[in-house]
Amino acid sequence: MAQILGIGNATLDIIHAVDRYPQENDEVRCIDRTVSRGGNVANTLVVLSQLGHTCSWAGVLVDTAEGRFVRDDLESSGIDTTASRMLDSGSMPVSSILVNSESGSRTIVHYRDLPEYTCADFESLDLKSCDWLHFEGRNIGQLGLMLRSSQSRFPSIPRSLEIEKPRPGIEALFGLVDVLLFSRDYARSHGYDSPEELLRFVHGSSPQADLYCTWGERGAVALDRMGRFRKQPAVAPSRVVDTLGAGDTFNAAVIHGYLAGLEAASRLRQACILAGKKCGQTGLAGLVQADS
Ligand code: FRU
Repeated sequence: MAQILGIGNATLDIIHAVDRYPQENDEVRCIDRTVSRGGNVANTLVVLSQLGHTCSWAGVLVDTAEGRFVRDDLESSGIDTTASRMLDSGSMPVSSILVNSESGSRTIVHYRDLPEYTCADFESLDLKSCDWLHFEGRNIGQLGLMLRSSQSRFPSIPRSLEIEKPRPGIEALFGLVDVLLFSRDYARSHGYDSPEELLRFVHGSSPQADLYCTWGERGAVALDRMGRFRKQPAVAPSRVVDTLGAGDTFNAAVIHGYLAGLEAASRLRQACILAGKKCGQTGLAGLVQADS
């Protein structure tokens, strides 16, 4: 299987499951509480590792109990963390999350006050045996440098980029990668009412990339660099219990689809199947089994 390096965040997730979403200023009891490791790229790597790939994570940690918890969780999921940077002081990014078990919705309040991974950190890594680079769309200035650097030093390694949130200047990165993975939130924040509208627009300026956009219960759409659309309805589980990390799972399955040589329609279908399966279970543990 392939060697994959993911560059982005790992977080501490404090997750409260509630049986219905509270009103503002309510006081409610939760039905379950877990503390786990999260972060978009970290979640994607955990799923890719379950899919049989050799994964490494590059990001920033702090040498505190929380930072060590995050690192140990990644390591126990089979993800190498030696490319990460461990700071002596500071605070780990923390997400306080409400999962509404009635609908599976996840509401995230994110705290972050941590220096970002830099292009200098990235350039110190040995990428010779790397088969795929996956980036989280954040830290735009440094990320642009990393994408350009990897493009000129390792032009044959495919690069994917997750675009989940609108961020100033992020569009300048679209031309620097092979695969762009958009969220519905990003599309909506730019006034697009459908995935097709967003992808058609992006294809106009970044025709070198294959494009994907997830749309929750409506599934996902892909537009390849030849301009061909593919649509896949969501593959919903019998009951949606937890959508936290569903987009990260979709991204992992798309990357896996390329590395496993799946053709485009089946790549998109498999990604929706795995993301749907994720929504039917709590967390990511045991997501990939012999039947998926
Ligand atoms: C889910 C997630 C959480 C994390 C948050 C960060 O996609 O990665 O694990 O706390 O998003 O934005």
